[in-house]
Amino acid sequence: MNTRSRRRQAGRVNGLVLFAGTVVVLLLVIVVGANVFFSRRIPEVPNANSAGPGSPVAPPPAGRTASAPPTPEAAPPQVAADGQAHRTPVAFEPPPERDMPDGEYGKVVRFGEQVFLDTARAAPRYVGNDLSCGNCHVDAGRQPGSAPLWASFIHYPAYRNKTRQVDTLASRIQGCFQYSMNGKAPPADDPVITALQTYAFWLATGAPVGMPVQGSGYPKLAKPAQRPDHARGEQVYLRNCAVCHGADGQGQRAGDRQVFPPLWGPRSFNWGAGMHQLGDASAFIKANMPLGKGGTLSDQEAWDVAYFMNSHERPQDPRFTGSVQETRERYHDTEDSLYGIEVNGHLLGSGTPGPAGSQR
Ligand code: HEC
Ligand code: HEC
Repeated sequence: MNTRSRRRQAGRVNGLVLFAGTVVVLLLVIVVGANVFFSRRIPEVPNANSAGPGSPVAPPPAGRTASAPPTPEAAPPQVAADGQAHRTPVAFEPPPERDMPDGEYGKVVRFGEQVFLDTARAAPRYVGNDLSCGNCHVDAGRQPGSAPLWASFIHYPAYRNKTRQVDTLASRIQGCFQYSMNGKAPPADDPVITALQTYAFWLATGAPVGMPVQGSGYPKLAKPAQRPDHARGEQVYLRNCAVCHGADGQGQRAGDRQVFPPLWGPRSFNWGAGMHQLGDASAFIKANMPLGKGGTLSDQEAWDVAYFMNSHERPQDPRFTGSVQETRERYHDTEDSLYGIEVNGHLLGSGTPGPAGSQR
């Protein structure tokens, strides 16, 4: 081998070493890079039902991010469905009305909002009273602390102790038709359910699925220092509520519009509705009433006025077995319900007569 060919061979070996080195470096870059990439792309999957302390911190909601940092003191970790608490709730704000999309999808979002705000007119077959969804899920389902629709969207399907099964968003909406609206549950694939779910989905744009979010559900109140009391509740009612809801609790109409919704009687929610329970009612009232002055009643006042409101007669529970006593034992056997209890000489749960009355 002459010098030239030896040099050539050395050159080839050098080239090979260089080439192999480059390949190794490239491979390293790819492996490390892919690792970083995938560990970014696939965060730990949040499991709604196994949340525990020390779970990963929620990623900031994408898109329309609310600027306020999470404030666990202000909002105790409570989410809509049972068994999902214990993580620091993140802040979220739904998109503004003006961002509502156009086109075929947008039409369904809009119909959903219409059903929500004017339920009897938009979905007459399924409504049996003078309420709309938006009366209890205030500000068109946007208001934090008023079981807002965007929070519901990201918390279902979820297991609930109340029904002992995994409930879907559709089944929660069906429940509100049957009880809160004293009506009939639309089939799960009904255009009304589709529209409400589509509206909820749009409101939840950018919300972190399965994570606790500030303002979900109704913020539960601690048990009051004194037992809720009818006479005290009546005083709270006359001072703070009657001006809008009427001394007789029947609300106010203007023409064919219900301006202030009824709180009891034949055109209100029935004995199966969440709002008939003292816990839900006091929480809703404390956070949202008097309208525009939420948070101004003391906890005791909220419990007392909830007790007063719910010791009036309303449409029968659709699950009525034929006996108030038996229906109480089966569905209402808690301190939270006045169904089947005698208050001021009247056995509550007898139901109300009339078109939207008992045993529908
Ligand atoms: C009389 C008040 C009232 C009306 C009217 C009402 N709801 Fe509700 N809604 C409640 C209460 C109270 C709860 C929670 C308590 C419970 O679990 O029963 C609730 C719960 C819900 C939930 C689940 C919330 C969550 O985050 O877990 C959804 C979704 C819902 N309602 C949708 C609707 C829709 C849609 C309508 C109209 C068809 C409607 N509601 C009408 C009072 C009402
Ligand atoms: C300024 C008028 C006003 C006052 C005062 C007021 N409310 Fe309301 N209330 C409303 C309106 C309006 C709604 C429906 C909210 C909506 O559609 O945005 C409502 C909704 C409700 C609901 C849910 C819907 C229903 O009919 O069941 C309850 C319960 C309620 N109010 C209880 C009370 C109680 C208790 C007080 C007194 C502590 C009170 N409100 C004071 C105007 C008022």
